[in-house]
Amino acid sequence: MAKVLINFAHPALEKSRVHAQLLKTIKGIPGITFNDLYEQYPDLDINVAREQKLMEQHDIILMQHPFYWYSAPAIVKQWIDLVLEHGWAYGHTGKALQGKYFSNIISTGGQEGAYHPQGHHAHTVHDFLLPFIQTALLCNMQYAAPYVIFGVHRMDTLDIKEQAQQLGHVLELLRDERFDLSPLPKLEYMNQILHLPAQTR
Ligand SMILES: Cc1cc2nc3c(=O)[nH]c(=O)nc-3n(C[C@H](O)[C@H](O)[C@H](O)COP(=O)(O)O)c2cc1C
Repeated sequence: MAKVLINFAHPALEKSRVHAQLLKTIKGIPGITFNDLYEQYPDLDINVAREQKLMEQHDIILMQHPFYWYSAPAIVKQWIDLVLEHGWAYGHTGKALQGKYFSNIISTGGQEGAYHPQGHHAHTVHDFLLPFIQTALLCNMQYAAPYVIFGVHRMDTLDIKEQAQQLGHVLELLRDERFDLSPLPKLEYMNQILHLPAQTR
């Protein structure tokens, strides 16, 4: 079993349609550690030792958040700035995260086609996620393909429930190691795990 940690960040969960629904599924999955950053640190006063210990105890670290201004809610930046310390996460002696997988689970208002060189946002989500990708690499981790739920403004409750089920299934596959993790960084989106032939899972 792989140990999966979800670091969740939503600054207004009471107004959320998408993530509130995703959490109903995710929180019920045994063996997945769910860490709600705004709940833990409403004043952004991150407990670095606690967060580092959590990372050390897990193999796959997923930052789950709505896509805000082509990036993440503020606490995610604060978490990165404080938790990924020199000498622990990176640098000559910073090997604590070596071999772990890191990625994002995001929802976007924009449709998939808008995240394209010829689309409304002129870049792919991978382009926008570059700071996360390179941060993972600098910290000796592999950046796995991001899990992206596009076009959420046009989704109704049933669509969102379906998305929650799919994400839950992907998390179970990761947890149970029913998917060889090594090709993950080569996939475009982590969502695609569900569509791979069973023998490669
Ligand atoms: C402050 C803010 C910034 C946003 N920035 C983006 C963005 O850059 N790209 C995008 O596709 N959607 C953007 N959105 C839309 C959110 O991603 C979308 O509302 C969210 O994924 C829905 O999830 P929720 O119902 O859990 O809040 C933004 C929304 C807010 C409130």
